[in-house]
Amino acid sequence: MIKENMVTQQFVFISLRRTKMKTAVYPGSFDPITKGHLDIIRRASRIFDEVIVSVLINPNKVGLFNIDERVRLIKKVTKDIPNVKVESFSGLLVNYMKEKNASIIIKGLRAVSDFEYEFQMSHINKKLDHNIETVFMMTDAETFYLSSTAVKQVAMFGGSIKDFVPDEIVSEILNKIQK
Ligand code: PNS
Repeated sequence: MIKENMVTQQFVFISLRRTKMKTAVYPGSFDPITKGHLDIIRRASRIFDEVIVSVLINPNKVGLFNIDERVRLIKKVTKDIPNVKVESFSGLLVNYMKEKNASIIIKGLRAVSDFEYEFQMSHINKKLDHNIETVFMMTDAETFYLSSTAVKQVAMFGGSIKDFVPDEIVSEILNKIQK
């Protein structure tokens, strides 16, 4: 009897997990991905069943890397994390979230300076779709000062970026900047 109950409980638990698969979307420009981004992706992948890292296609902003290149670089540095998918999106984030059947946005919070912008964005997204929740993760003490813009600037002026971006993509960034 006790054994039967345990089997039933296990079945209910597994069924619940199956039906309540939590997909989180980590959106951004990722031009290029930094160690700070990667830290957030790794930590989020331990909390959620699936993490979709999605690069914004912004026709008004020319980046160092085009969208396909950014996606490829992110795939390269996340290939060891099985529950991470990498894609791109255009238009409103909330519409993309609906397409993906996801209701959680992941954002990394660095210094206080990020707060105001992120606070505004989370409320706008909630207003556009009340099902959306933004989950903020504090960036690691090792990477809180990092930004893609700073990485590009350091590389452009000949500084070392090895502490700032994953090893596998250092040479790709330097090659791109030297072109
Ligand atoms: O890495 P970034 O540039 O800070 O990322 C910003 C991003 C992509 C998360 C944000 O610009 C975004 O969600 N853009 C999609 C358009 C949208 O839905 N905007 C929200 C209402 S202002």
